Amino acid sequence: RDGAGGRVFDLRASGGEHRFRAGRPTPTWGINGPYLAPTLRAARGETVTVRFRNDLPESTTLHWHGMHVPARMDGGPHQPVRPGATWSPTWTVDQPAATLWYHPHPHGRTALHVYRGLAGLFILDDPHPHGLPDRYGIDDIPVIVRDLNLTDHNELDERDREQGGVGIVGDLVTVNGTPAPYLPVTTQRVRLRLLNGSNARIYRFGFGSGRTFALVGTDGGLLAAPYETGHVQLSPGERAEIVVALRPGERDVLRSLPPETGLNLWDRRWTGGDDTLDVMELRAAPRLARSSPLPARLAEAPRLVTDPATPPVRRFELSGFTINGRSMDMNRVDFAVPQGGTEVWEVTAIDDAPHNFHVHDAQFQVVSVGGRLPPPELRGWKDTVHTPPGVPVRIALRFRGEPDPATPYMFHCHILNHEDQGLMGQFVVT
Ligand code: C2O
Ligand code: CU
Repeated sequence: RDGAGGRVFDLRASGGEHRFRAGRPTPTWGINGPYLAPTLRAARGETVTVRFRNDLPESTTLHWHGMHVPARMDGGPHQPVRPGATWSPTWTVDQPAATLWYHPHPHGRTALHVYRGLAGLFILDDPHPHGLPDRYGIDDIPVIVRDLNLTDHNELDERDREQGGVGIVGDLVTVNGTPAPYLPVTTQRVRLRLLNGSNARIYRFGFGSGRTFALVGTDGGLLAAPYETGHVQLSPGERAEIVVALRPGERDVLRSLPPETGLNLWDRRWTGGDDTLDVMELRAAPRLARSSPLPARLAEAPRLVTDPATPPVRRFELSGFTINGRSMDMNRVDFAVPQGGTEVWEVTAIDDAPHNFHVHDAQFQVVSVGGRLPPPELRGWKDTVHTPPGVPVRIALRFRGEPDPATPYMFHCHILNHEDQGLMGQFVVT
């Protein structure tokens, strides 16, 4: 906290070593530590100032994924931080409580920088309590899920072993950097803030016992009401907040089941889509502290667009490493959106590869998927959405930022190898 009631975060990226398994520690990258990055936290209305020093051997950036920020503070490829340099973005938080995250976004090098370990949560709070479990580390748990491969010498294997063009799909699944972890549960209800922080893998989370849980939040905020379900699917970059109720002494395993991607047999297999993975065991103590019941209502989110037939003003076709046939060019701005305007965009993956779509600055609402109203898990605020092959996904966005015709925001596929290979474009707010 600074004197003026703002938040100041001192962050430093550097190389380090992390122990994933017995034997030699693995050379990794981290922020304020050897691997991953600290959870940052700020409330709506607070001013955030970051002092980010890059002590890595190459330029990087820090991007605030899901955050409404001025374009100059966004930490995309246009704000590189050279080795030894410091970058100090500042902005005022003006959006609902949510689980956001931050990671590097250097042009063409994002996959590598994230894979080596640069990623952390950025939790936003509201002044109003929502009645959800909220004691960080006790009943409110960050769950950053990432997959990786280690070489025989315990180095991070940075080779793309797959045929699917998605980049690295790992067979070692980690939570907050730990393989095969367990979570001691001491309360009747526990809130898990799930982040798919993987480069390419799509997870479909559920429990070994088949139990249901309450989905309470998506990328950009809480749902209107808890949604009881047995599964939640997250493609790279997506988040979900879930609340799980356990009985005293109970154990269960958070797993990933084969995701529903709509891909054909081969594309599915090459991209890890047939895998069932154990992610984390929950172990309830013999006695559990009382948790308050789940609130029936969580957050208000008025629909930006109410008619699902509203025609899109822009269309995006994702294919291979391109959007509308063009690949990313740092010197080409694809379009300008008017400040304060609401737009409907239609995004369609037209090849048989896994893709999703992420937009900087604005949280969006899914208007329709394949012409139908979105399922409940896509009814909250989103900044990243999976785009099954051949299925048009319409989203509604409002751009509230100050106009800055000189500095673009990005939109791209969050499968990081796709992004690095050019499946990205740029827009400005004017
Ligand atoms: Cu999480 Cu443009 O990225
Ligand atoms: Cu993609």
